[in-house]
Amino acid sequence: MTMRLLLLIFLPFVLAGCRMAQAKLPPPEKSYKFLIPIPAVMRNHWNMFKPFLLALADRGHKVVTVQIIDAAFTHPNITEVVVPVTLAYTSSRFGMAKNPAESLSSMETFRVSLVSKFYSSPSVMQVYNRRHEFDVVITSHMFNEIAYPFAVGMPLITLAVGGVEPRHSAIMGNVLNPSYVSNEYFDYPRPYSLSDRLHNLYILLSVAGYWRVWGMMPKIQKEVSVYFPELPPLLEIERNISLSLINSHLGNSIPVPLLPSQVEVGPMHCVPGQPLPEDLSSWLDGGGVGGVIYFSLGSVAKGVTMPDKYLRIIIETFSRLKYRVIWKYESKLEGISNNVFIKDWMPQQDILADPRVELFITHGGLLSTQESICHGKPLIALPVFADQPKNAKMIVNRGLGLALEWEELTVELLVDTITEVLTNPKYKRNMEAASRVDRDRPQEPLETAVFWTEYVARHRGAPRLRSPAADLSWMEFLMLDVVAVVHMAVLVVFLVLRRLLSSFYSQLFTWHCKKTKTN
Ligand SMILES: *[C@@H]1O[C@H](CO)[C@@H](O)[C@H](O)[C@H]1NC(C)=O
Ligand SMILES: *[C@@H]1O[C@H](CO)[C@@H](O)[C@H](O)[C@H]1NC(C)=O
Repeated sequence: MTMRLLLLIFLPFVLAGCRMAQAKLPPPEKSYKFLIPIPAVMRNHWNMFKPFLLALADRGHKVVTVQIIDAAFTHPNITEVVVPVTLAYTSSRFGMAKNPAESLSSMETFRVSLVSKFYSSPSVMQVYNRRHEFDVVITSHMFNEIAYPFAVGMPLITLAVGGVEPRHSAIMGNVLNPSYVSNEYFDYPRPYSLSDRLHNLYILLSVAGYWRVWGMMPKIQKEVSVYFPELPPLLEIERNISLSLINSHLGNSIPVPLLPSQVEVGPMHCVPGQPLPEDLSSWLDGGGVGGVIYFSLGSVAKGVTMPDKYLRIIIETFSRLKYRVIWKYESKLEGISNNVFIKDWMPQQDILADPRVELFITHGGLLSTQESICHGKPLIALPVFADQPKNAKMIVNRGLGLALEWEELTVELLVDTITEVLTNPKYKRNMEAASRVDRDRPQEPLETAVFWTEYVARHRGAPRLRSPAADLSWMEFLMLDVVAVVHMAVLVVFLVLRRLLSSFYSQLFTWHCKKTKTN
């Protein structure tokens, strides 16, 4: 009863928590047409695309998406072209946390095989042939290079769902300094030591090389060339990006220098919580002690692929807790204690916004981490793969919670970690402070995204935003040619001087010898 009362009193504040009071954008001068080819977009990436596309459609723009996952839009201004392709995401990603190469190659196979499935579809080609009717092409640069043929001769915007990525930033002409900006997979204690900087540079170069030179892109290019032999190479089309909307705020954890064409719009997917579904809400009302824990491993690192030994540890841990647990899990489980509520789909942000929920145990995906910050809920990260270990480190460094590795997991350790985060007030305090800082800005991120998207449409690609650095080769950018010329000049001066000096000395010597002889 008291819980209900408290909820009624505080819910309006909680709901207002993620909303910012600002002036709205003026209505657009006209209705634009946006083409969104995102063949390999992952389920979680939709969390960022959906609110953005809905905001464009609400402003009267026409949006056409081309993809393999039905996003079930019901908006009259959004048309979806869906090519159903079975996703090969069922394989386990557990154990990949320390090996980025493994997570990359697991994505490569899927994407290379996707090209022919995608472009042999008549409905995709129909949209492709009409692409010049659109004002702007928007895609996710991450794993969607397959879509670049749509962008030839068109203004191109990319959504950087993974936040600031050094590789993608460099393509736009902004090479971030590896002495303090980390790669996508690891972070290090600050300031980076010599060995950390070496490791960082090694990972940056090997990922970029794998991506662009010998791995992913050449294979995709080969497949794409079958369908579009006359088009420029995908990597060349990519260099023409007009604008990148980046899912970060303050580079997620550190400030980094960005170009005017790199606009931070994170976390634009954060929305105020809605009341929970009836079954969940009445279960939460049913009593029990202390805060509620929410446990979800997201959609890419599905819980069903979790090795049995981890599953048993988690079930046992939850049964020893006095707290109640909401667990997003995709199939039936045996031996579950009755303080645990399991369902295959959860309204994540509504749960995080609920004042009864006090802890989020997560795989540490960027979107989930941002949602937790937005709703001010401390975290325990159990990173599985990709950028998750790096996000986990950020969570620990900023005191927003704790992180554990799957390999070290025991029932005692998990119980202790949960107890620590729930009982030590510092995590809650840090999280609320982070949440306040994140929301303190002149414009809602979603509005920022809409403004710059319309800007690119208005100015037909907005070439003035484009950095001249994007057109330079590596040699020109790093001024290696200039360094070579300077070295050459120094060498020439040195050689000339040496020659002069040596002939001077030999003259002196012969003169001296002659003189001694004549004496
Ligand atoms: C759809 O776009 C039209 C203009 O193209 C606009 O008048 C209408 O309000 C939009 N629909 C919705 C539901 O926002
Ligand atoms: C590059 O982008 C501009 C718009 O910014 C567009 O007009 C031009 O056709 C594009 N070039 C290529 C080769 O795609």
